[in-house]
Amino acid sequence: MFARRPTSEWDHGFNSMEEKTRKLWIDQDRHTGDRLRLFRAISEYTAPKKVLYPGCFVDVAPSFSFRNVTFVDIDSRAQQFFADPDGVREIIASQAGAPGSPEFRFIHADYTEDLGLRGQSFDLLISLYAGFVSEHCSRYLRPGGTLLVNPSHGDAAMASIDPAFRLTGVVISRGGEYRVKTGDLGQYLVPKKPGTITAESLHESGRGVAYAKPAFAYLFEFSPD
Ligand SMILES: C[S@@+](CC[C@H](N)C(=O)[O-])C[C@H]1O[C@@H](n2cnc3c(N)ncnc32)[C@H](O)[C@@H]1O
Repeated sequence: MFARRPTSEWDHGFNSMEEKTRKLWIDQDRHTGDRLRLFRAISEYTAPKKVLYPGCFVDVAPSFSFRNVTFVDIDSRAQQFFADPDGVREIIASQAGAPGSPEFRFIHADYTEDLGLRGQSFDLLISLYAGFVSEHCSRYLRPGGTLLVNPSHGDAAMASIDPAFRLTGVVISRGGEYRVKTGDLGQYLVPKKPGTITAESLHESGRGVAYAKPAFAYLFEFSPD
């Protein structure tokens, strides 16, 4: 357990969480409010009842916009962070407009393995800088559900070659603000260099594909056969 410190020593307005929780969150939120703005933009696009975030580390920001979020990570620091639920609740409550009575759970696991979750039971799957989440966790997404994925680790490219996913929006980032665009999507996900993208080539490189017109992230609708 990490010691709680007297209120006077605390900055950022938090006063009842464990010190480790506070430090992890302050580091995570170093571009203050960046993820809050991202997920607020997503919440204007879709209103998921249940959200799954594999490879979350300590990014609790989805809970600032969505009431029910399941977080998954293999890292022991993420486990320590979520082992202080009062502290996590305090972070959520500190965000104006956050849902009241947030429901969140943390699963300390490798998302490539069975997470013990019901299949097709989530409305939004989040994949940000955490590898091939779409490949391993789409089974938890309900048909018609949404994948939010950024391109950095190749997962956006992986989704783009998976026939179960259809591009329905892109997330544009400008000056620290985010917005979702749903028109003119044909210009996105077009590789700069010709060549065939395969799951094997993506696994091999472990990197994103350079696109002619890049976006911060992509939104796909899940329509399995
Ligand atoms: C670069 S961090 C990104 C964290 C967060 N998504 C964000 O955008 O701030 C990648 C995280 O994914 C986690 N991760 C990578 N592969 C994983 C796996 N197979 N199972 C669970 N977590 C994984 C790592 O432990 C790490 O916390």
